[in-house]
Amino acid sequence: MTVSKTIRVGIIGSGGIARAHAAAYKTMDHVEIAAVADVVPGKAQQFIDRDELKDAQPFEDHRELLALDLDGVSICTPNKAHHRTAVDALEAGKHVLLEKPMSVTLDEAIDMVQTSKRTGSMLSIGFQPRYDPNMDIVRNIVQSGRLGSVYYVETGGGRRRGMPGGTFISKELAGAGAMADIGCYSLDMALNALGYPKPLTVSAYTSNLFGTNPRYHREAERFDVEDFGVALVRLEGGIALNFKISWAMHMDTLGATMFLGSEGGLKVTPAGVGPWSGVWDGKVGSITLFHDLLGHHTESPIPVKEHSINLFHEKVRDFVAAIREGRGAPIPGEQILYNQAIIDGVLRSSELKREVEIALP
Ligand SMILES: NC(=O)c1ccc[n+]([C@@H]2O[C@H](COP(=O)([O-])OP(=O)(O)OC[C@H]3O[C@@H](n4cnc5c(N)ncnc54)[C@H](O)[C@@H]3O)[C@@H](O)[C@H]2O)c1
Repeated sequence: MTVSKTIRVGIIGSGGIARAHAAAYKTMDHVEIAAVADVVPGKAQQFIDRDELKDAQPFEDHRELLALDLDGVSICTPNKAHHRTAVDALEAGKHVLLEKPMSVTLDEAIDMVQTSKRTGSMLSIGFQPRYDPNMDIVRNIVQSGRLGSVYYVETGGGRRRGMPGGTFISKELAGAGAMADIGCYSLDMALNALGYPKPLTVSAYTSNLFGTNPRYHREAERFDVEDFGVALVRLEGGIALNFKISWAMHMDTLGATMFLGSEGGLKVTPAGVGPWSGVWDGKVGSITLFHDLLGHHTESPIPVKEHSINLFHEKVRDFVAAIREGRGAPIPGEQILYNQAIIDGVLRSSELKREVEIALP
């Protein structure tokens, strides 16, 4: 009988989402959470005690954690610290599962990808909706050529009320608001279906009339990111992408994701009801193919796959499997670089009030 090698992992940043990483690692055999680091004194130890990670060592400085003999790390810090911690981890020879969004700026994302290439350590970005089988259905239809030449894609979505608080609403820690928090998921669904074409230019507008209003947000005085954004993005291959996202609005929906092609169209609606629904973050409501059949305008509903997959556990499990099998990153930083490039372009364009070019290496 072959005995599997124990994969030793560390967790950097021990706040809310780190608990989901720890819970996922704990479901796996031959995986040991060997260390936890958090800049807040005592927080890593509290995390270890509360989650009963009896073999884990606590640290305040992530570089001390990285000095240990570890195979991989989960990076669960606020966005602003993603770049430093990820680059240090890759340099230390650790594979990285980095929480979304990838980074705050495009330059940071480029640096991470280049470091991953140079060091040979894997950089995978934590978009768990990729593990929803419906994401594959959407991608397979778009990739099949059934839509003909895709020339227009609309994606994003809006919550009637769904603004987070804490570290998510400060430019200092998060870098960006709704775009980075939920917009990156919609972008990933659309770009993944299209095969991640290169973004070329962005013309965008953002605002934050809800977050900064104490009637709508109890931390309004420290809210300085965008709660709404809209952008027209030119993608390589002659595709126009209309991207919009909202954490709060006086409207029920910002519409479905749609792919328009010369031979067909595909509409994907978000799942769920209530003020926090309306965006793509792991479940779809319906998938419909629009096409002509013998001259008739036809709408074919594609059966949505109901499932009980724990998407979050799946992303952590796949990261561990990739380490064990020596394969590449399940959701490669190299690909998500384009997602980050659009968010970076949105923020630059909105600041400059004009279209901006996206410079990629
Ligand atoms: N995939 C998902 O579904 C999902 C859900 C929520 C959050 N996230 C992402 O996870 C990340 C963290 O979010 P959260 O809700 O856990 O935030 P959080 O504020 O609850 O936790 C972040 C923790 O990181 C610590 N920290 C900050 N800088 C650090 C550094 N340099 N080294 C070590 N620790 C550091 C903070 O003290 C804090 O304890 C964000 O990037 C967020 O976008 C992803």
